[in-house]
Amino acid sequence: MCGIVGYVGPNVPSSRPQGVAMDGLRRLEYRGYDSAGIAVHTGDEIVVRKRAGKLQNLVDAIEADPVPDGVASIGHTRWATHGGPTDVNAHPHVAGDGALAVIHNGIIENFAPLRRELVEDGVEFLSETDTEVVAHLLARAYDGDITAAMLEVVGRLEGAFTLLAQHRDQPGVVVGARRSSPLVVGLGDGENFLGSDVSAFISGTKRAMELSEDQVVTITPTSVDVVGFDGTPATGRTYEVDWDAAAAVKDGFPTFMDKEIHDQPAAVRDTLLGRRDEQGHLVLNELRIDEAVLRQVDKVIIIACGTASYAGHVAKYAIEHWCRIPCEVELASEFRYRDPIVTERTLVVAISQSGETMDTLMAVRHAREQGSKVLAIVNTFGSTIAREADAVLYTHAGPEIAVASTKAFLAQITGCYLLGLYLSQLRGYKYDDEVAGYLEELAAMPDKISTVLDEQQERVRELARSLKDEDSVLFLGRHVGFPVALEGALKLKEIAYIHAEGFAAGELKHGPIALVDEGTPVFIIVPTPRRPVLHQKVISNIQEVRARGARAIVVAEEGDTEVEQFAEFVIRVPRTPTLMMPLVTTVPLQIFASEVAAARGLDVDQPRNLAKSVTVE
Ligand code: AGP
Repeated sequence: MCGIVGYVGPNVPSSRPQGVAMDGLRRLEYRGYDSAGIAVHTGDEIVVRKRAGKLQNLVDAIEADPVPDGVASIGHTRWATHGGPTDVNAHPHVAGDGALAVIHNGIIENFAPLRRELVEDGVEFLSETDTEVVAHLLARAYDGDITAAMLEVVGRLEGAFTLLAQHRDQPGVVVGARRSSPLVVGLGDGENFLGSDVSAFISGTKRAMELSEDQVVTITPTSVDVVGFDGTPATGRTYEVDWDAAAAVKDGFPTFMDKEIHDQPAAVRDTLLGRRDEQGHLVLNELRIDEAVLRQVDKVIIIACGTASYAGHVAKYAIEHWCRIPCEVELASEFRYRDPIVTERTLVVAISQSGETMDTLMAVRHAREQGSKVLAIVNTFGSTIAREADAVLYTHAGPEIAVASTKAFLAQITGCYLLGLYLSQLRGYKYDDEVAGYLEELAAMPDKISTVLDEQQERVRELARSLKDEDSVLFLGRHVGFPVALEGALKLKEIAYIHAEGFAAGELKHGPIALVDEGTPVFIIVPTPRRPVLHQKVISNIQEVRARGARAIVVAEEGDTEVEQFAEFVIRVPRTPTLMMPLVTTVPLQIFASEVAAARGLDVDQPRNLAKSVTVE
């Protein structure tokens, strides 16, 4: 998830294009901050400045080597997906001997065959990025009209992308294209803007136009033209932005956590992008562990902390079921002090959003010292854990700003599913068509997450406000519902400061049921009725807590009518394969915790005593 800004102004060169681009990048830095760059059209040429690292590095570079006045600009803050955070990999990327500059947010799934085609045509690549492929395709397609070139090129691209491009021969034009990635137009007077969200240009205008899927937009100082990828003219809905600049950075949501909860369909979808080859086989290209080694693996140990460890618990059920390999989940802070049994046939999987958690990093080092291969499932490109692991499977949740992890959690679970399916395919436990079936189910999950957000959110928020003064809440789950119960409890603890406990529903009678008092809120995550034995046992657990006065708040699959007679409150999730239910059952619990914290007047994004990345042991 990168930050994108575009600008076209009066045909009299000034410092405004550069100013608009840099101001936009400052507001967008939360969307990606491992490199940044701008391209300014001076009227005669396109001047590019780009640097790895924080935006300040770009500011310093421009101070050292000023950019001339211009008439148009594009700017980009990067969240790396292909190619490390380096100056060369930073956007904009140029082609055609510097005649064309392009910036990109998203993932071009078919960039590898396109890159091969261009190399065979004699193109010399400077970077490792998928974006540079687009720059060369555009330069090759350009014949005096950048819009026509864009229309030709987008027809060849697969994946999710927002593109902005400008050409030396068309000073007063910036063209944009979007597929499954955000792009919005800012409507000015004698100038126009483009941005990945309105925060990119909110200081220039509050009149905006939204674009639909598969559209190309061409802006000049006095016009905005929209066409579909098939060339048919279109128009976008215009609206007045009623946010202030601070709200705009959160896309209008009250907190980053709320924004990131709503980013979850995209986080899951983007983590799934680019994982299948032309034959539809699951491929994990960034894995650098030899397939023969993976075939010999006789045990998986997952190491992580906090929410990431709960993703590991979900993964355990999937990996053992799909791969028939023993899978242990170990808190990273415990792993290296318990003298674990690790051999060269053990695959240690380290899960971490930040890739900097010291407990997890130290556990990775210990595992490698013991001779095991380490695979990291991380969200932050080039992070320490990613660098020190033998192989990396990146999640693509984009930067997660709120301390409480939400979209990264769902992306981690998705990454674990991909790993489990990859191992089962590699070891022959699942046929290709079975793996393809699971991948199709996974591809349907973003829409199911959206359904929960659309249909249950307000009810859950109302429930949260009614329970904001409770001093204890319990969470029960079985099978993959158990780690979801743990995660629901952690969310409530860490942002609402309410005592909460998640536990396996089967454990209730072994002690925790003594906690249940008259009116105690108890969340119960119910398995699908298509697993009748599990389902019936959880129904019994609901009855047990209700018999002791608990308020049963049930998260259950649509159509599961049996739960209604025992539940005080039912939260519905779409029908989902059992192993994938955490991707939908977690969402109401995140919303609940966020709303309780807000209702208690607490800082949802920056809860007391906590840091986003715990870089101390
Ligand atoms: C989750 O809401 C917490 N912020 C915390 O448990 C977090 O998941 C844990 O510290 C691990 O962080 P990591 O994923 O960056 O390694």
